[in-house]
Amino acid sequence: MGMLRKTAGTSTATKPLLTAKATVRAAKTVPARSLQVVRTLGGENVVDVLTRQHRQIRLGFLQAALPGPWRRRNFDRLMRLLAVHEAAEEAHVHPVARRALRHGSELAQRRITEEKEAKQLLVALWRTGPNGAGYLRRLNQVRRAVARHAAREEREEFAALRKAVSPARLRMLGAEVKLTQAYAPTRPHRWVNNEAANKLVAPVLGPLDRTLDAVRHRMAS
Ligand SMILES: [Fe+2]
Ligand SMILES: [Fe+2]
Repeated sequence: MGMLRKTAGTSTATKPLLTAKATVRAAKTVPARSLQVVRTLGGENVVDVLTRQHRQIRLGFLQAALPGPWRRRNFDRLMRLLAVHEAAEEAHVHPVARRALRHGSELAQRRITEEKEAKQLLVALWRTGPNGAGYLRRLNQVRRAVARHAAREEREEFAALRKAVSPARLRMLGAEVKLTQAYAPTRPHRWVNNEAANKLVAPVLGPLDRTLDAVRHRMAS
């Protein structure tokens, strides 16, 4: 309760970014039992979780470009990280930005459009594979698109969410993101790029992708 009272104070100070109605809703949507789940999952707020993943993704692009026997493993790891990262943002983060931030609809729509464009490039990269012709060129194309997109998310969306949404709600979102990533698809799917598709279809595609990953690993070893 103390946490929620503190939250309400924080949101009043950042009123320009959040409507009064949305502030009240954000503060009230974290029941005590949910807070227990959040604590079990580490209690990390969503902005910290996603910003850390952006750093991992940047490093992942460098590792996936390295020649040698580890390239396939590094490539698969990068594809998986990108897929689960974007799935969680599309399912949980952009919808909250859309509802809670002033001009949230336009902002979320711009991020979703960038994600769709990056996904087109990602599908092409996935089909090329780490040993295909033009791999490094495609990898660099995707890296540039993803880096631009992540920088805009951090600058425009995450910074505003940190100010506008209560700390308790941000921790709750962090837990939702981690849970979603546990079953999200591990490879890019061109047509899964909004909240509904991620919430409805991803729980089916996720296990399917993971089964295919396991089969491929077994065949490769
Ligand atoms: Fe994103
Ligand atoms: Fe992101």
